[in-house]
Amino acid sequence: MKTLRQYLDGTACEKQLKDLIELIAYQSIPIRDAFIDNQSYAGTENTYGEEQAALDKWADTHIISVLGKSGFVKEIASEEQPDIVRFPDAEGDYAVVMDPLDGSSLIQVNLAVGTIVGIYRGGNALQKGEDLAVAMYMLYGPMTVLTITVGNGVFTFALNSEETFVLLKENIQIPEGKLFGSGGIRNEWLSGHHDFISLCEQNGGKLRYSGSFVADFHQILTYGGVYCYPAAQGKPEGKLRLVFEGNPIGFIAKQAGGAISDGTQDLLTVIPTKPDHRTPIYVGSKNVIESVESCMKKQ
Ligand code: AHG
Ligand code: MN
Ligand code: MN
Ligand code: MN
Repeated sequence: MKTLRQYLDGTACEKQLKDLIELIAYQSIPIRDAFIDNQSYAGTENTYGEEQAALDKWADTHIISVLGKSGFVKEIASEEQPDIVRFPDAEGDYAVVMDPLDGSSLIQVNLAVGTIVGIYRGGNALQKGEDLAVAMYMLYGPMTVLTITVGNGVFTFALNSEETFVLLKENIQIPEGKLFGSGGIRNEWLSGHHDFISLCEQNGGKLRYSGSFVADFHQILTYGGVYCYPAAQGKPEGKLRLVFEGNPIGFIAKQAGGAISDGTQDLLTVIPTKPDHRTPIYVGSKNVIESVESCMKKQ
């Protein structure tokens, strides 16, 4: 069985990038193990006014400390940090964007959550999604899996009983499926989004929405369809964050033959203005994302 390292050795990635990817991927072991001990809320809020789970903070501090010590990374943009964390003396020249724990409200109910990561070359964390060198997520479900692209197809690895990532699926393509799920409150949706969801229902689509972006996207990657977190009345920017949620997941979707949009344009072409830049998100099968954009144009 091909290990993550063997896979990386067959890519064009430079050695330091391979080491960085492996270093991040295997942090899934201490993060997963910390679930047992960190069930409570931390009693603090992040930049977005969200209550931080103890594990949100733990995972954030843990990954930042590991990356800081590695010397590979000049900048980190994290959901749990108000500002970009800088390591000007690092020998390496990468920037990492991350959502240390995505779907963290589901920790207490033992549903699947994940860690989302993007890596840029050049040490600057605020770049367009299309310029990512690597996008990956670790999903903590019945199995711990890693889905990754280094810009040459999408691959999923599973952590085996020896705590090694081994190849589970290669060259993954998103099928033209019919699952759909939407965040937000129905009464606050805008008319274009209502129209799009009606279209999904008329086409025999099946509703799937857990409250964890990474878990819901992983399902879309397998079965096809669309994950949405739309703009809403009084919230034109939606809820999710461009830099460490939309861009890495969108880069994976595009590499798998799918697409990501903010409702009007390819999200991966948007230049982030700040670490906490929010955006509406539609991600999934290519044709479905095209129909989102046509519903929004009519709105
Ligand atoms: P996070 O846990 O990193 O703050 O992200 C939560 C996100 C995303 O994972 C999920 O799809 C969405 O927020 C759920 O929001 P609602 O509870 O509003 O549906
Ligand atoms: Mn959060
Ligand atoms: Mn998130
Ligand atoms: Mn998070």
